[in-house]
Amino acid sequence: MKINVGVVFGGRSVENEISVITANQAIQAMDREKYAITPIYITKTGKWYSGDALLNVENYRDTKKLLSMCEEVYMRPVYGDTNLYRANRKLFQKESVIKLDVILPALHGTNCEDGTFQGIMEFSGIPYTGCNTLASANGMDKVTMKMILKECGIPVIDYRWFSDKEWDDKKENTISKIEELGYPVIVKPANSGSSVGIRAAHNREELLDAVDYAISFTSRIIVEKYVQKLKEVNCSVLGNYYECQASVCEVPVRSGEILSYQDKYMNGGGKQSQGMRSTVREIPANLPETSTKFIQQAACDTFRALDCDGVARIDFIIDEATDKIFVNEINTIPGSLSFYLWEYSGMNFSQLIDRLIEIAFRRKQDAGFKAVNYGENIFATKVANGAKMGGKMGGKLGK
Ligand SMILES: Nc1ncnc2c1ncn2[C@@H]1O[C@H](COP(=O)(O)OP(=O)(O)O)[C@@H](O)[C@H]1O
Ligand SMILES: [Mg+2]
Repeated sequence: MKINVGVVFGGRSVENEISVITANQAIQAMDREKYAITPIYITKTGKWYSGDALLNVENYRDTKKLLSMCEEVYMRPVYGDTNLYRANRKLFQKESVIKLDVILPALHGTNCEDGTFQGIMEFSGIPYTGCNTLASANGMDKVTMKMILKECGIPVIDYRWFSDKEWDDKKENTISKIEELGYPVIVKPANSGSSVGIRAAHNREELLDAVDYAISFTSRIIVEKYVQKLKEVNCSVLGNYYECQASVCEVPVRSGEILSYQDKYMNGGGKQSQGMRSTVREIPANLPETSTKFIQQAACDTFRALDCDGVARIDFIIDEATDKIFVNEINTIPGSLSFYLWEYSGMNFSQLIDRLIEIAFRRKQDAGFKAVNYGENIFATKVANGAKMGGKMGGKLGK
């Protein structure tokens, strides 16, 4: 019996296209002897579709035509129901397309990688690969992530944060707060990705523009000290809280002031983008042994501090002026699932997916041992009988 895997990609995210590539690479790598694969594409407007036409990346040039070759589907947020349903069932057609055993989210960015999708999976009780809702949400928000890492003693670059409302109402105050860092700074939407919405600012005028630009993407903004002479190093971690390992490190090569969307996805030179595989990179990173060790340890510490599962990529910035190493961010569903880092670490993409699915089943099994009921039915006790509205307890149940 094969395992029915739903590979979910696309989504209401600026990284919709990149996710199509990640999913396509994963599907090609998956062992067909073990897995029956159902591709599920979420459109930019949030509708779900399934069908074999989704398996050819060329078809995404004309999404309208592509979707006309597919079937609209959905899952129900009802615990224990892991069916994929037809949205427009024809007469005599079965209501369910397939009963899925596990979901592999190959999604990136907002509404996808940030816990929203993972929440639906939790509701239906289906095992899914990668981080849970909390880890995904904490990992997506650069402010929350840095607060947690700082609390755990993991080095992060000095930052300030504020909301768009604060920017409107208390601009002078907010500017002073930012300028404590000293120019140049880098302004980022707290929950974007793929370098979208990010700009460096060398003076107040540029800061005003950069903040307005970032605010056009999100309401929470983070500003960091801009590291002028830096080396970026990425390291992937695979496993769970109890057992995790770090991959080899890579240095992505950038062409301008920041590692841009183009650097990340469009430098492959091939006919079509290869997702994160397109990044020009040095792999394994040519670093002193002590730096590599430090980064691999800090990557595992970050993974555990955020309670991650599956595969994540932790990105570092080395300040070459001081040789200090900082965690810049975590990607809880990394581009191309970081398979190229694991290949260098002796695990091919197919084995990586086996491991992700194994971890997903393991988490589900462990969760089954945790109590979801506590004590008796409170409504059947005397206390509750006195708790009706206007009753002896004034309608209040002791919490
Ligand atoms: N503090 C910083 N100093 C200098 N460059 C930075 C800094 N933070 C980010 N960058 C540059 O901007 C790029 C994108 O920032 P990052 O925080 O990784 O956001 P994203 O989630 O969009 O990838 C980084 O890869 C790096 O090139
Ligand atoms: Mg990044």
